[in-house]
Amino acid sequence: MLCMVTALVAFLAAPVLGLPVQAPIPGYGVEDIVWGVDVYGNGTIVNITGTVQNVLSHLNEHNPALVKKILASHPNASDHHEEKAQRIRCIDKMDPAQNIFGWDVAGPKWIHDGAKYLQGVGGQPTNGPGPGNCGRVSCEYHSAIWWCNDNNKPITLPSFSTIGYCATNACDLCPDSWSPDRCLGQGFDTDGWNCIVRRDEDSC
Ligand SMILES: *[C@@H]1O[C@H](CO)[C@@H](O)[C@H](O)[C@H]1NC(C)=O
Ligand SMILES: *[C@@H]1O[C@H](CO)[C@@H](O)[C@H](O)[C@H]1NC(C)=O
Ligand SMILES: *[C@@H]1O[C@H](CO)[C@@H](O)[C@H](O)[C@H]1NC(C)=O
Repeated sequence: MLCMVTALVAFLAAPVLGLPVQAPIPGYGVEDIVWGVDVYGNGTIVNITGTVQNVLSHLNEHNPALVKKILASHPNASDHHEEKAQRIRCIDKMDPAQNIFGWDVAGPKWIHDGAKYLQGVGGQPTNGPGPGNCGRVSCEYHSAIWWCNDNNKPITLPSFSTIGYCATNACDLCPDSWSPDRCLGQGFDTDGWNCIVRRDEDSC
């Protein structure tokens, strides 16, 4: 069903100077995510910088049928073959011992949306060497999915879906104690990377 977008590849380019987005964790690097996209479905790869929403908006200008397909997709819950055990750390916004970076809560609807897009776009994500290197892969309505590499070498995942599953779990398992319709959490993969779901007001 998503075969039309499997030609889409994603990779990271050298960090862009003057990047407006701040790292989710103080002192962490921000990796500018560049997605190599077969925008026209004819093999010509176009580089798009930013989040999966930036990719969709670019696609919408040039190949709206493809976007329609991704938006209409219903990620198959049983199609979790690449999902790995991830340790989820829920963060109570009001507990300074847990919320050491002063994060705010995200909207599950927008996190789920982002996860669906990540499952739909295909391609393989790469994150530069850490520890502490993060790329913002999804952001809409002030709700962000960050992907951080804590390895001292670059990592490449089989697909963006893996990050989508991480974000979905970190959000669904971590409702905020004060506003349960919001979520705040982090998921840690055994391969030394993690995902963060939280509020983000920076160009989002
Ligand atoms: C896209 O980025 C890659 C990696 O930086 C580069 O090799 C390629 O030439 C770029 N393609 C275009 C069309 O700019
Ligand atoms: C693919 O389509 C775009 C837009 O029509 C065009 O600019 C590009 O040259 C095409 N590439 C190939 C390989 O035909
Ligand atoms: C979900 O995936 C499973 C296994 O790949 C398949 O048997 C099932 O038909 C799929 N369900 C839908 C709704 O696509």
